Amino acid sequence: MLNSKIVGLGHHVPETVVTNFDLEKKINTSDEWIKERTGIQERRFFKKGEDTVANMAAKAAKMALERAGVDKSEIEMIIFATITSDYYFPGSGVLLQRELGLGTIPCMDIKNQCSGFIYALETADNFIKAGKYKTILVVGGEIQSSVLDYSDEGRAVSVIFGDGAGVALVQATQEQDKGVLSTHLHSDGTYAEELAILDPGSSRPERLYKEMTNLDKTYCYMNGSMVFKHAVTKFPEVINEALEHNRKTVDDIDLLIPHQANLRISTAVGQRLGIADEKVYSNIQKYGNTTAASIPIAMSEAWAEGKIKDGDLVCLAAFGSGFTWASALIRW
Ligand code: UT7
Repeated sequence: MLNSKIVGLGHHVPETVVTNFDLEKKINTSDEWIKERTGIQERRFFKKGEDTVANMAAKAAKMALERAGVDKSEIEMIIFATITSDYYFPGSGVLLQRELGLGTIPCMDIKNQCSGFIYALETADNFIKAGKYKTILVVGGEIQSSVLDYSDEGRAVSVIFGDGAGVALVQATQEQDKGVLSTHLHSDGTYAEELAILDPGSSRPERLYKEMTNLDKTYCYMNGSMVFKHAVTKFPEVINEALEHNRKTVDDIDLLIPHQANLRISTAVGQRLGIADEKVYSNIQKYGNTTAASIPIAMSEAWAEGKIKDGDLVCLAAFGSGFTWASALIRW
C-alpha cells in the first residue's frame, strides 16, 4: 500500500514588517490590546504591485524543492488552499503552475479558510494512496492586508491578519509507518455567517460595481467571542479524534502545530489537552493569522529550527470560518 510523506517544506513572507505600533498610526488600537488579546507583535503586509499570492507561493515552492532535492518536473499536481486568490477566478493554482513552468499538470484550488491547508493535505494524501499521482505540491497562501477594514468597526479583525505563503511537497512512499497517518475533516454550516465575507457573492443582490456605495460586506465580519468559544472546544476534539484513530495519546505527540489563530487559543488548547507548552508551536507573534498559509509556514519554520526530526509524531490542527475544523497526524 502506498503512503504519502512530506519530503520538503518552504515558506515565503513579504518583506514589509508591520508592527502593532505601525497599526496604532492607522487604526484606533494599541500594542497592549493586540498583544494581550492575541499575542501578535507584528505581521507582514504585501508590497502592492510586487507580491502576489501566487508568486509568494512560487518562492515557497522553490525553497521546498531545494530542501527536498526534488526537481520541479516531478510535480504532478498542485492543490492550492486560499481564500484570497489573486483573481475572483481562475484560482491561484494555475497562476502558480504558470509561474513555476509546470506544463499542463492539474491544479485545484481549495477554499476552506483556516482549515484549507489540512483539507488540501487530505486531498493530496488520497490521490497518492489511490496511486493516481506520486508528487503533489500542497500550498497555502494569502494576502489578507488588502481586504481588511481599518475603521473602528473592523479593528478587532484587522489587527489579527497577515500575508504569506507556505508549501509542503508531498510524495508517495512505500514506508508504512511514515508519513500522513490520518486526517480528520469536519464542517458545520450553521455558523457560516459568523466569520465571513459576503460580497461579492452570487446570492447577493449586488456585486461590486461603481454605483455600489455600501462596501461593508466586502470586509471580513467575525463574531470573535463565538469563534473563540468554538475554537477552544473543536481544536482538542479533533486532535483527540486523530490520536484515538491511531491509538496514540497526547504524550506521544512531539510537536503540535495548530493553525495560528490567536496565541490565547493555542494556549487554551494546550492546557485542555494537557500538553507541554514547548510542544505547541507558535509563530503568530511574527506573522499574525495567515489563514490557509499559517500551518505550512509554521511547519516550514519549525522544521528549519530543528523542531521536527525524523521519526517525530507531528499533529496539525485547524479551526476557522465555515465553521470548518480538521487535524492530521504525521509520522516524520
Ligand atoms: O482564524 C480564524 C479564527 N479566528 C479566531 O480564532 C479569532 C477568535 N476570536 C478572538 O481571537 C477574539 O475574539 C478577538 C481577539 C478577535 C477579539 O477579542 P475579544 O476579547 O473577543 O474582544 P471584543 O471583540 O469582545 O472587544 C472587547 C473590547 C471592545 O470594547 P468595549 O466594548 O469593551 O469597550 C472593543 O470595542 O475591545 C475593543 N476592541 C479593540 N480595542 C483596541 C476591539 N478591537 C480592538 C482593537 N484595539 N483592535
